[in-house]
Amino acid sequence: MAIRTIYKQGDPVLNKKCHPVTQFDQKLWDLLDDLRETLDQANGVGLAAPQIGILRRVVIVINQDDEVIELVNPEIIDQRGEQEGPEGCLSVPGVWGIVKRPEWVKVKAFDRNGQMFEVEGEGLTARCFCHELGHLEGQLYTELAQKLLNDEEMEALFDQQEDEEAEEQ
Ligand code: NI
Repeated sequence: MAIRTIYKQGDPVLNKKCHPVTQFDQKLWDLLDDLRETLDQANGVGLAAPQIGILRRVVIVINQDDEVIELVNPEIIDQRGEQEGPEGCLSVPGVWGIVKRPEWVKVKAFDRNGQMFEVEGEGLTARCFCHELGHLEGQLYTELAQKLLNDEEMEALFDQQEDEEAEEQ
């Protein structure tokens, strides 16, 4: 396993459509292990192969139960509702964006051994599935964001939300 460099916005590798995985072999397992280790070190909740320069349809997502989900050739097969909230990306450091996403999604994918499975996610996990799958199409969330915020503006937004919640109680 190895910690890989995370490519940043502006690098053309992040704007390319990724190829499907056809072989579930050691090379794929190494890629998944590297994604996991790189994500762990970066303290994120999701990472896609193109972010480490590999144009393959492979992502990992950490769900709200802190489980690591490996998704190979993933597809969203169902979705419900809508949520609007802040989103960030390890490839776009220091920036946050307000993005609309479905509230709930169901994803079909293959595991590292080529076994098909389905997984559901809601809230932040649904957001993360959508965000990571976007990377496989060469899409960064900044293209979808209605508004981009820097760290300071993001903190102000969090404080404001906390105040609002306190008032509601
Ligand atoms: Ni991202």
